[in-house]
Amino acid sequence: MDESLWSKVDAYATDLFGLLDPVLASVVSRSEEEDLPAIQVSECQGKFLEILVRGCRAKRVLEVGTLGGFSTIFLARGVGPGGTVVTLELEPRHAAVARESLRESGLEHRVEVREGDAHESLSRMVTEGVEPFDFVFIDAEKSGYPRYLDPVLRLSRPGTMLVADNVVRRGEVVDAGSDDPDVRGIREFNARVAAAPGLEATILQTVGTKGHDGLLIAVLT
Ligand code: DHB
Ligand code: MG
Repeated sequence: MDESLWSKVDAYATDLFGLLDPVLASVVSRSEEEDLPAIQVSECQGKFLEILVRGCRAKRVLEVGTLGGFSTIFLARGVGPGGTVVTLELEPRHAAVARESLRESGLEHRVEVREGDAHESLSRMVTEGVEPFDFVFIDAEKSGYPRYLDPVLRLSRPGTMLVADNVVRRGEVVDAGSDDPDVRGIREFNARVAAAPGLEATILQTVGTKGHDGLLIAVLT
């Protein structure tokens, strides 16, 4: 494994496609200044999300785990004018950074940052019977992943695409005996996706500036 080579390739693609524009660079520096953990998706992964959202013609996107709003900006770009992103964040400090970043990006009118426990926010949306989402991105606390699936499916319709970050965890996901709560959460989540009726799913491993991890990609049929 050559992690420095993975990072070089990410830098090459980021430069080639001009992925780190001034708005996103400013989100990264604001997040650093505010001491947020540097665990946002890479530029290449963020653009991948935007491309999926555009390709699905998704107009309503749900994000679980906002952090500083880096991935949120890609999602908000993907939905285009008239589209909406609802993003759920537990930490008030993270939500504040995200709101500032969204203001600066000029996309704040497309995004609703819902602060609070995502499990509660999801339950509330299910109870309210909100319009189904076209695309869902899960990138929050890993031990909580299994409990996101049921409400997310209730907030979906046939054709809704679901993407979840960090489902490989440096390969630790294959360790059935792991006592790491994050790995256990991811394994349980992946198993529930596999067992869910009507979900077609796969896992794509990723390497790059974020090390070795993976994305789960699924569509509700
Ligand atoms: C962690 C969380 C993430 O969402 C990620 O992309 C990488 C790492 C973490 O909690 O360690
Ligand atoms: Mg992540």
